[in-house]
Amino acid sequence: MTVFVTGGAGFIGANFIFYMLRQHPDYRIVCIDKLTYAGNLSTLEPVMSNPNFRFAKVDICDREAVYQLFEEENPDIVVNFAAESHVDRSIEDPEIFLRTNILGTQVMMDACRKFGTKRYHQVSTDEVYGDLPLDRPDLFFTEQTPIHASSPYSASKAGADLMVMAYYRTYGLPVTISRCSNNYGPYHFPEKLIPLMIANALADKPLPVYGDGLNVRDWLYVEDHCRAIDLIIHNGRVGEVYNVGGHNEMSNISIVRMICRELGKPESLITYVTDRKGHDRRYAIDPTKIHSELGWLPETKFEDGIKKTVKWYLDNRQWWETIVSGEYRNYYEKMYGNR
Ligand code: NAD
Ligand code: TYD
Repeated sequence: MTVFVTGGAGFIGANFIFYMLRQHPDYRIVCIDKLTYAGNLSTLEPVMSNPNFRFAKVDICDREAVYQLFEEENPDIVVNFAAESHVDRSIEDPEIFLRTNILGTQVMMDACRKFGTKRYHQVSTDEVYGDLPLDRPDLFFTEQTPIHASSPYSASKAGADLMVMAYYRTYGLPVTISRCSNNYGPYHFPEKLIPLMIANALADKPLPVYGDGLNVRDWLYVEDHCRAIDLIIHNGRVGEVYNVGGHNEMSNISIVRMICRELGKPESLITYVTDRKGHDRRYAIDPTKIHSELGWLPETKFEDGIKKTVKWYLDNRQWWETIVSGEYRNYYEKMYGNR
């Protein structure tokens, strides 16, 4: 069995590659990654010499290079993680989001059609559903919730999802889609909330909380997400969407306070800054479908997952310190300098 994993040098893709090589040591895993600012080849160092692993530096929008890889490897399954993934960057400059997230998805699906790939899986997000109000804790996203994206990022992911379902209906491409809530865990790029707060707290820098800090996300430990995708690509029904997440809702401010406590840092580092434009209020997943069809439930509770994550960042300082000391500094200054 050969599995193509696009975006495997990024946060979730890399965790998925480690997970798959552990769970299915006989599978061949081919990572396709353009190595954008978010891709980090050093993350994949532990598997580089595994004979069942191959890394290919390829842009998923590069049709010729993608077809060439399909020709060489003839994958059975494609799992598409590759994307521009940061909402704040999409607000600054949406174009690359449309290119990679929508056109890249199309190229990967065209390749699957051309080479007769047996399964194409699209890694999507709960953000395609828009947001839920804070005063209706009884509401959750189900697979029937209408698409109602808020940011250029989520609109680009929604556009990709629509193309995936169109390829299923029009060409009979065997697709599945997972829409997952916010992930956290090892190798999370330090521009995202949790790793950014850990890195800043360790450097005694201000902890920039957007708006009133009461926005809620439904946090999922990355390994739980990897397990869900493994189940979907093997046992999920073709043409179906599966929501992944559930019942780990936390407000941003409570997470930042938890991180301060874990690291023994004062809450006086917390600094409220100008809100994100169009900031989604609450995300919350109803995981009934994936639970009843595939037996999946999240295993890691937030209180345990955040401890493990903080420990990982303490034990792997070199990984993220290299990032925050490089080009990332310009990004940080631009986004937070005058906020
Ligand atoms: P990430 O930004 O950490 O990694 C993205 C990876 O894709 C990087 O390695 C990057 O180099 C690669 N990439 C970008 N453009 C590419 C291109 N044109 N061709 C090939 N590779 C390219 O992202 P992540 O957080 O790991 O997210 C992975 C996927 O999961 C994305 O599709 C994202 O929308 C989805 N998702 C993420 C979350 C989350 O909480 N992080 C939640 C739900 C869904
Ligand atoms: P983020 O990690 O960017 O994920 P997403 O926007 O995809 O949910 O942000 C998570 C939440 O944290 C979101 O409500 C925005 C907020 N946030 C801050 O308050 N400060 C920050 O510096 C960042 C990066 C995010």
